[in-house]
Amino acid sequence: MPKLTVDGRTTDVPEGKRLVLAIESTGVPIGHRCGGFARCTTCRVEFQAGEPDTMTRAEYAILSTRELLGQARLSCQIVCDHDMSVRPLLTKDNNPEWDTTGPPPEPTVTPEAAWYPKSEVAREASA
Ligand code: FES
Repeated sequence: MPKLTVDGRTTDVPEGKRLVLAIESTGVPIGHRCGGFARCTTCRVEFQAGEPDTMTRAEYAILSTRELLGQARLSCQIVCDHDMSVRPLLTKDNNPEWDTTGPPPEPTVTPEAAWYPKSEVAREASA
């Protein structure tokens, strides 16, 4: 079972659980304002350890549009398949104007995930 560390607190999470949902289950009110469809970037996290080597095409597209590539990853586009340590960047606690954290994300990655090595996604995007 992978270990997930959120802001220094470590818990076991079910293999394959969507990272945004795993973070939420630790009690951190992380944003997911688009419902986990790689459109809002409010689920963004900073990796302290265990950043995946792969990225969905949808994540690459929105991170590059928002100039966040290399600074943050989208927890709605990542599944817990190994140990990770992250710091959520946008939560209801630091955005008190939010009425909610957002619509509940599906248990599986949406839109349907196509994972690529980060280097390959970047090469395709520039082609
Ligand atoms: S980009 Fe909106 S929840 Fe991840």
